[in-house]
Amino acid sequence: MHRDNKVKPLYLMTKRLDLSHNWLPMPFIVFEGLDGSGKSSLMDRLERFLKNQNKVVHRTREPGGTNLGDEIRYLILKNEGTPPCSRAELLLYEASRAQHVDEFIKPRLEKKEWVLSDRFAASSIAFQAGGRAISENDVQALNQFATGGLQPDLTILLDIPVEKALERRERREKTTGVQADRIEKEAFDFHERVRQSFLKQAQADKSRWIVLNAEKTLEQLMLELTYELKEKGWASF
Ligand SMILES: Nc1ncnc2c1ncn2[C@@H]1O[C@H](COP(=O)(O)OP(=O)(O)OP(=O)(O)O)[C@@H](O)[C@H]1O
Ligand SMILES: [Mg+2]
Repeated sequence: MHRDNKVKPLYLMTKRLDLSHNWLPMPFIVFEGLDGSGKSSLMDRLERFLKNQNKVVHRTREPGGTNLGDEIRYLILKNEGTPPCSRAELLLYEASRAQHVDEFIKPRLEKKEWVLSDRFAASSIAFQAGGRAISENDVQALNQFATGGLQPDLTILLDIPVEKALERRERREKTTGVQADRIEKEAFDFHERVRQSFLKQAQADKSRWIVLNAEKTLEQLMLELTYELKEKGWASF
């Protein structure tokens, strides 16, 4: 389970070092991608895989992850009433994030436990800067403020064409009866801009992101993901 003697990438050595466990970092892993890309499905599998390895794993999501975050989530995603303007929407996401970092994520990482989050700061770049066309610099500054600089050790982007994600969501709606939320109802072009922003972010930071083709089977995706975790020394087979 511990890493071998290979030279470790610098970024692994600079964060949350666990001196008692041979410089083992505690991973904070984020799943990103369009709604319907398969984040929840793959997170279910990864959570099971890690728990089978006796890791302490916490699963969370944005917006949400705390009581306050869940109340904010309702305000952001509800279909009734006057929708928030783009800036108000961004600030609501960031308020949820700040609370999430302080109340949920940081305390668990400090206890050397794993955190898997369905979305994090990269979603605000993709949806609010990419989708809503707010300046990327403004979103970045607010992300920095809300997270206090906390960054995921790894972000897994489930990349899928917009029309395929929509098909999956429609199928899921038919079987579960759960209606599309306010953001899911945005136009095709909005989701295309979101997809492109995610791909751009992943390209710009290859050591902290992996891009998976979300059209593959869950079994194949798990193989690729566990291979990456093993490469980083975070899991064994
Ligand atoms: N690799 C896959 N191949 C085929 N179907 C998949 C795959 N992954 C997920 N699905 C199906 O696609 C639908 C959407 O998946 P899921 O709910 O995991 O996506 P999500 O990214 O969590 O969506 P949301 O953001 O809306 O929560 C589900 O019905 C799920 O069973
Ligand atoms: Mg989901």
